[in-house]
Amino acid sequence: MTQTTTYIGTSNHGFAQYAQDEIRKIFPMTKFYLLVPTEVFLFEIPAGAEESLTALKEQEPMFLRHVQPVDQVWELSRTDADIENLKEWLREAYRAGLIGSGQKIATQVRKEERANVPYAPFTIKAALDDIIVGEIQSEPVVRYSDFIISVYISAAKVFVGLSKPADNLSDWSGGAIRFMKEEDQISRAKFKLLEAEQRFGIDFSVARTALDIGAAPGGWTSLLLERGLRVTAIDPAAMSPRLLGNPNLKIYKKNAGDVKLKDNEFDLLVCDMSWDPRQMGRLVADLLYSLQSGGTAIITVKLMHKKPFQTVKDILRILEPSLFLIKAKQLFHNREEFTLYLQKT
Ligand SMILES: C[S@@+](CC[C@H](N)C(=O)[O-])C[C@H]1O[C@@H](n2cnc3c(N)ncnc32)[C@H](O)[C@@H]1O
Repeated sequence: MTQTTTYIGTSNHGFAQYAQDEIRKIFPMTKFYLLVPTEVFLFEIPAGAEESLTALKEQEPMFLRHVQPVDQVWELSRTDADIENLKEWLREAYRAGLIGSGQKIATQVRKEERANVPYAPFTIKAALDDIIVGEIQSEPVVRYSDFIISVYISAAKVFVGLSKPADNLSDWSGGAIRFMKEEDQISRAKFKLLEAEQRFGIDFSVARTALDIGAAPGGWTSLLLERGLRVTAIDPAAMSPRLLGNPNLKIYKKNAGDVKLKDNEFDLLVCDMSWDPRQMGRLVADLLYSLQSGGTAIITVKLMHKKPFQTVKDILRILEPSLFLIKAKQLFHNREEFTLYLQKT
C-alpha cells in the first residue's frame, strides 16, 4: 500500500502556486487542496513521513514559507466538541509516547476567517496548555520548543499535527516571523535583514566590514552597525540623519556604478536595491572584486514580471561565476521579491 504524508503549506500571499510547482518537482504525484486562495494549501505527498520531510528540507522550496504536518482531521462541529477532540488527541499522543514529560511544547493555532467558530484560538491553546502542565508535566512555551502542536481551523475542518520545530521550515506559526518595531527604527526594510539573519542562521557579528549597496535610508546599515561592523553604504538617496557622523560608517552618496572600492575590502556584501534584477545583478557583479573570497552576500531580488523561476536563473547566471548560491528563499518580510544567500568562491 502506498504511504501518504499530509501537510498544510503556507506561502506569502500570491505565491502558493509557485510553492506548489516546487513541491511537484520533488514529488510529481502530490495532490493539492487550496485552503486560503494563493496562500495556504493542504498537500498529500505519496511517500512516507521521513522521506517527505527529508526531501522538503534538503530541497527546500523557495516559496514554501512553512509546513505543518496533519496527523488527524475532524469535521468542524463549531461547538466545544472541537476542543474536546483536540484534548483527547493530545492525551493519546502522550499515551503513545509521541510526546513526553519534561519537555517544552509550543501550541500554535491558526484559524481561517471563514471558519466562523464560537471559540478563540487562545481558548484552544489554553485547553491544551492545561493538559501539557497538569497531565504531561511538560512546559508550555511560545518559542524555542522541543515540539510544536499545530492546529489549523479551516472553513470546514480541524487539522492537528505534532512536529519538531525544524521540521516546519520555520518555528513561527505559519512562518509569520514577527520583530518588535523599535521606536527610532529607520526603515521597515530592516526586518528583511533581521529575518535573513535568523532564517539562514548567519552571525553577522563575525564579519568585520560590510558593503551595503542601495543602503538608504539605512535600516540594513543600522543593523550591521549594531552588530559591530564597519559599514560602507552606497546610495544616491540620503541616509537617515541618525546615522550621519557614525565613525564606523562611510557613505558614498552615489550611484553604485560610479564608486571605486579596494580589492577584497569587505567580508560581507548586502544589497537591497529595488531595481530590475538583471541591472542590479550586473551592478553587484561589477563590485564583487571588493568582497573577499569566502565572504557572504545577501541580496534582495525584485520580482518585476512575476516569473520567479526565470528571474532566479537570470540573476544566478550573472552572479554565479563569482558567487555560489547557498539558499534562495522568499522571506515573510519580502513582498514582491525574494532573498538570495550566497558566498564568494
Ligand atoms: C528599498 S531601498 C533600500 C532600503 C534599505 N535597505 C534600508 O534598510 O533602509 C532601495 C534603495 O536602492 C537605491 N538604489 C537604486 N538604484 C541604485 C543604484 N544604481 N546605486 C545605488 N543605490 C541605488 C535607492 O535609492 C533606494 O534608496
